[in-house]
Amino acid sequence: MGRIPDEDVQRVREATDVVALISESVVLKKKGRLFWGLCPFHGEKTPSFKVDPATQLWHCFGCGEGGDAFGFLMRQEHMEFPDAVRLLADRGRIEIREEGGGVDRGHKERLTEASDAAARFYHRTLVMSRDDAVERARSYLSGRGFGSEVAKEFMVGYAPGRGALVRYLKEAGFTDTEMIEANLALKGDRGLKDRFYERVMFPIHDLQGRAVGFGGRVMGDAEPKYLNTQETPIFHKSRNLYAIDRAKNEIVKAGEAVVVEGYTDVIALHAAGIKNVVATLGTALTRDHVKLLGRFASRIVYLFDADEAGLRAAERAGEFLDVLLAPPEGLGSAAVDLAVAVVPDGKDPADYVLTAGAEGMRKVIGDASPLLRFLVDRRLDAHDLSLPEGRARALTSVARLLASMKSTVFLHEYMAHVQDRLGLDYLVIQQAVNEARPEQVARDGEGEDAAGVSAAAAVAMRRQDPGYVAAREYVRLVAQSGELRTSAREVLSEGLVHDEILRRTLSAVVDAGSTVGTELYTLVAETDPEAGAVLSGLVMDDEDSANKSTEARDVLSKLKEFALERQIIEKKAQMRALSEVKASAEYDELFREIAGLQVKLDRVHRGLADCSDTDGSVG
Ligand code: UTP
Ligand code: MN
Repeated sequence: MGRIPDEDVQRVREATDVVALISESVVLKKKGRLFWGLCPFHGEKTPSFKVDPATQLWHCFGCGEGGDAFGFLMRQEHMEFPDAVRLLADRGRIEIREEGGGVDRGHKERLTEASDAAARFYHRTLVMSRDDAVERARSYLSGRGFGSEVAKEFMVGYAPGRGALVRYLKEAGFTDTEMIEANLALKGDRGLKDRFYERVMFPIHDLQGRAVGFGGRVMGDAEPKYLNTQETPIFHKSRNLYAIDRAKNEIVKAGEAVVVEGYTDVIALHAAGIKNVVATLGTALTRDHVKLLGRFASRIVYLFDADEAGLRAAERAGEFLDVLLAPPEGLGSAAVDLAVAVVPDGKDPADYVLTAGAEGMRKVIGDASPLLRFLVDRRLDAHDLSLPEGRARALTSVARLLASMKSTVFLHEYMAHVQDRLGLDYLVIQQAVNEARPEQVARDGEGEDAAGVSAAAAVAMRRQDPGYVAAREYVRLVAQSGELRTSAREVLSEGLVHDEILRRTLSAVVDAGSTVGTELYTLVAETDPEAGAVLSGLVMDDEDSANKSTEARDVLSKLKEFALERQIIEKKAQMRALSEVKASAEYDELFREIAGLQVKLDRVHRGLADCSDTDGSVG
């Protein structure tokens, strides 16, 4: 299988009706020119998912996903582009040609087959081998309550090492390169050697249940306790989750996913009948993990061991705070609700479920507190609240956390909680939070990408930002009018579009000459799928503005205003940082710069007023 020529892709595109395709899995209702339904990519109760028969594009304004027929299949079925083309070609009974050897898809497929074969080999070894070491592995596992049933369900295996796997895979027709790239073998002095030896093997499966990687545990106390598959073309620690294949249906049923830290925790909880459980692979939860789980459930409980590592992981989960900060209004269940629970008595979930039973474990999960509440309490607990200094320090630390909150409803609730615990006046707390705020604003600007956010929550948060709304409007106008492209190049180089993805979208639009509509979408999506998703919404959103260039000019002055405001905030933050070390020359310089920016800002403000006063005739 190889590359499909562009013209064949185009023929398949033309033969496909996106409305009919999507209707197979989403209930669509016609309203005006567009069809609307509940977005299949994030949980929602009111439709924000629209399909446009004219442009043959779809877009969800809830989670920001969007694209054409191929993109829909890629997202829904987790397919690669060529597979989506093949599927739609099959459906439309269209012959397509394939050029070359199909390196990419075929190659990944081979790596997956090799891993899958390795998993079977390891499992068979564990179950069948009479070797002393394997006997020991079996009794170790059953001693931990993992009998043969459990081993079979999770395909637990044993890696004997000494080239046994390499020989087996070679026999099965896999090449050295394939074994190395799947991280199943390493290059040694005398040919290939097994990557895993004398370890109990826990295969990590993809959503379809195919082994793509492994965690291998030593039997004794040797280090490292676990050896994991490194990043390979088919295995990514930040995306894969242990046991997701077995847990996904249970997660949907429960409406909740439980995330633990250890492979053995997953197995112990499943064995105890708690099956909506997955584990990260020796890393903290990432944005991609949350996104993936968010497709199956609207609530995630992150269950930590009470040890220091566990608690550090909990702190890191603070990166997901903005998931909670998304405004609940209008978004309903779209945002993923992230809660945290700590296993009592310093145990890990596997130990705890053995002593407390499934009921005890369920109670711990059920008592999970919202992530923010958890972090607030942890910060409060870190100080001696019986002393005034302790209370003051606790307040500063908590205020920094709360200052990042945008939803006022939640904020009041949390401030009241802090008030209860510190016994301070509500106004004092409010003031501390307000003081912590500008600093936060400056930091947010830098670290946007570091924060893990569910797509819908991210979209909702951006919508609250007038700067984002104006920039999006500007990109929409430029996308719909070929004439605005030249001036848009300048807007880009002046850095007026702050949002990274909008900037990329605009730049792709500018590079696409004067194309508009579906053609523009296709060009952009090819090189930058994320920009394509944004554009799918903008291209179909034609509000038929009477005068796009007048509108663009108005939006532009807003963008200038926002850009100046951003600079001022940044400089002020720099100034605050300086004032502590009393570097007065630099301080004065910043002060002058801020004053200069302020003057410019005033001018833009006046310019805006002029425009509307004279009905747009000022040039
Ligand atoms: P734990 O040390 O808690 O292991 O690490 P565990 O899963 O409970 O295993 P048992 O019960 O002691 O046999 C939790 C997770 O951290 C990762 C693994 O994913 C493990 O499941 N880890 C741990 C590593 O990747 N490498 C290590 O050396 C240790
Ligand atoms: Mn553990």
